[in-house]
Amino acid sequence: VRAVLLDRLNRPLRDLRVSVTDRCNLRCTYCMPADVFGPDYAFLPREELLSFEEIERLTRAFVALGVRKLRLTGGEPLLRRDLPELVARLSALEGVEDVALTTNGLLLPRLAADLKAAGLRRVTVSLDSLDPEVFGRMNGLNVAPDRVLDGIEAALRAGLGVKVNTVVQRGVNDAGLPELWRALRDRATVRFIEFMDVGNHNGWNMDAVVPSREVLARLADAEPGLDFAPVNPAYRGEVAARYYDGEGHEVGLISSVTAPFCGDCSRARLSAVGVLYTCLFAGAGTDLRAPLRAGATDAELRERVAAVWQARQDRYSEERGEATPGRAASKVEMSHIGG
Ligand code: GTP
Ligand code: 5AD
Ligand code: SF4
Ligand code: SF4
Repeated sequence: VRAVLLDRLNRPLRDLRVSVTDRCNLRCTYCMPADVFGPDYAFLPREELLSFEEIERLTRAFVALGVRKLRLTGGEPLLRRDLPELVARLSALEGVEDVALTTNGLLLPRLAADLKAAGLRRVTVSLDSLDPEVFGRMNGLNVAPDRVLDGIEAALRAGLGVKVNTVVQRGVNDAGLPELWRALRDRATVRFIEFMDVGNHNGWNMDAVVPSREVLARLADAEPGLDFAPVNPAYRGEVAARYYDGEGHEVGLISSVTAPFCGDCSRARLSAVGVLYTCLFAGAGTDLRAPLRAGATDAELRERVAAVWQARQDRYSEERGEATPGRAASKVEMSHIGG
């Protein structure tokens, strides 16, 4: 039996998040603000992207080193042509226990059934507000929340499990959180995410962060009958802290700012062009596409990944609050690694 691969902080490699495109059909202000990602923005040309064969080959190397859970991300992953085919290939890999997808939901009415048939079991849909004006402003293109709700319904009808991710920004969408949770909690696990300083363009500052404990207090205030109690993590290193409300619903809180979870972070991220990042906030990564296209063997690819993981000591979210943060001058864009 192979010894478990550990990084310098003793964290195993368990999850791989694979970005399949840097494009998106929304322009969320906190991720791809329209004034930066405008009509002239140079997105990656198609030949730069890893092919499905290449993604599968690299994924096998990660699985051989301990990865059990895969998540497809973007940009918006459903914009990648024939995505269900990739899902089918990855779900079939021996050793893979879970394949999930993070999406804005807009294309789910078209694709949910095919994704399910390809082996996908669950999706995580981003939705920040049910108020058309608020959501329209946050997604940068005035897209209506109903379009995302249609996507969620399509996923449920197809038999996919659904989680909903809501990024919380003070003074922007925080007033509508109880309403959003109430509307979705019977059908989906809603997780509220503290606004993070990812990328280089989202104008992050601490004042815009609503700490998770405040989010929970607002839910409780809106429905005084509820009695929230913490639930044990579903698995080690679970990103969301979950609470039951005493009436059969659950809510998740992702507190990367006020309660960082780097200590258990077992996630690697592969960009659409095959660069491996060991942290959401990394300044640079390691190119795996060059060796892949130059004819590296499976063993060579595995060694390269293993060496990167063994050298890893990222803990950005924990350092954020320290006196001398190890902050990179320029961080990888969210649209390149999908969160
Ligand atoms: P499951 O628990 O498998 O459902 O998924 P997840 O919560 O790991 O994935 P998801 O893509 O839904 O992530 C939810 C939010 O947590 C996103 O905003 C991510 O950017 C954030 N997140 C996920 N992983 C990390 C991480 O390693 N570090 C930080 N700081 N944030 C993360
Ligand atoms: N802060 C917190 N969450 C973010 N996401 C994108 N940008 C940010 C940010 N700056 C979320 C998306 C999606 C998930 C993968 O990451 O809304 O749900
Ligand atoms: Fe697109 Fe998701 Fe980024 Fe919004 S958060 S711009 S939906 S990739
Ligand atoms: Fe992992 Fe980096 Fe997120 Fe910490 S900040 S949990 S090390 S990805």
